[in-house]
Amino acid sequence: MSKLRQIKPDIFSVGAVDWDRRLFDELIPLPDGTSYNSYLIKGSEKIALIDTVDPTKQHELVENLKELKIDKIDYIVTNHAEQDHSGALPEILNIYKNARVVTNKKCKDMLMNLLLIPENKFITVNDRETISLGDKTLEFIYAPWVHWPETILTYLIEDKILFSCDLFGSHLATSDLFITDKAKIYEAAKRYYAEIMMPFRTIIKKNLEKIKDLEIEIIATSHGPIYDKPEFIINAYKEWISDDVKNEVIIPYISMHGSTKKMVDYLVNALMERDITVKPFNLTVTDIGELAISLVDAATIVIASPTILVGPHPTVVYAAYLTNVLRPKIKFLSIIGSYGWGGKMVKQLSDMIPNLKVELIDPVIIKGFPKEDDFKALDRLADDILRKHKENNIV
Ligand SMILES: Cc1cc2nc3c(=O)[nH]c(=O)nc-3n(C[C@H](O)[C@H](O)[C@H](O)COP(=O)(O)O)c2cc1C
Ligand SMILES: [Fe+2]
Ligand SMILES: [Fe+2]
Repeated sequence: MSKLRQIKPDIFSVGAVDWDRRLFDELIPLPDGTSYNSYLIKGSEKIALIDTVDPTKQHELVENLKELKIDKIDYIVTNHAEQDHSGALPEILNIYKNARVVTNKKCKDMLMNLLLIPENKFITVNDRETISLGDKTLEFIYAPWVHWPETILTYLIEDKILFSCDLFGSHLATSDLFITDKAKIYEAAKRYYAEIMMPFRTIIKKNLEKIKDLEIEIIATSHGPIYDKPEFIINAYKEWISDDVKNEVIIPYISMHGSTKKMVDYLVNALMERDITVKPFNLTVTDIGELAISLVDAATIVIASPTILVGPHPTVVYAAYLTNVLRPKIKFLSIIGSYGWGGKMVKQLSDMIPNLKVELIDPVIIKGFPKEDDFKALDRLADDILRKHKENNIV
């Protein structure tokens, strides 16, 4: 049971911490669990609930509302239609018969389809429209594509709180209401950004522009603890969405019998000798979220795979697919690997990453276990990477 807590007078956190969840969207590893935050605002005239929780935790939300002795809710503001926040809507609407779901037209349409909520339950609002709760006012700010097309943010004007739903969120189960451990949150929020927000980097820039003139004292997201010093996360986002990359090479790899692995080991040392930060990821043991985090600001990726059944190893295919859809701001790409008799590994891999606006640095593809000339070729690759980084003022 997740404890309800007061954030400010008449504003409560009533959602649920999911300590045990280890996978999100059947895809994203959650090493630290997560939370589905929901907020209750008691105005002098009206009561509003901001987002709900994942349906698996709806009993916790209901208990918290009971404990607060809430016998009517006027508005359930729905910032985002995804079920980790909207999934408890049918249950809440069932208990609070007069409540209306406040959202935009697109989100209404999605909620009618995803959760079969009848049309007469909705109040739709436009960008920058406000709703009064008496002594408190909610302003709705359209923020499409963070990370679905229907998303909005809700700003509580008098208390200067931005309810940002997934934006700025972190998958982190914690008993802290507000942030305490900054390093921990930075990592968790970066992981969240990498996995959920990075594909929409350009449009998030525009959405940050939209909120830059708001006076924000608190950012209350729908995953993870609340930011009482919002500049911490806003500055982190500014860095992540900027076009700047770091003097860093990441090497996702697979090796069945050790030949490609020997190449990776050699290249790691060659890059270290050149003062380039390097992060190899053995894909058989890598938490894919760690790979995603490193994609946020690395300059270069070197994909390493043996040839298997003519093409790249299927696990490398998965990593390449993921990298392509996450659209990191990587600037350079190369491919290395070992083969036995022949194939199309490089061509197949390069065709898998059309979204990446990268310059291809000459691959190093060798037969069998690496020999002296192959190590020279890897030195050449390390030199090429260093030169490219220098030419682009990354070093
Ligand atoms: C299941 C399997 C399928 C393979 N298919 C090919 C292939 O289609 N073409 C090729 O050149 N080599 C193929 N090979 C050989 C490997 O590419 C070669 O042994 C390479 O050196 C393995 O590198 P590694 O030690 O990094 O796993 C295959 C090997 C295995 C185990
Ligand atoms: Fe979401
Ligand atoms: Fe979410």
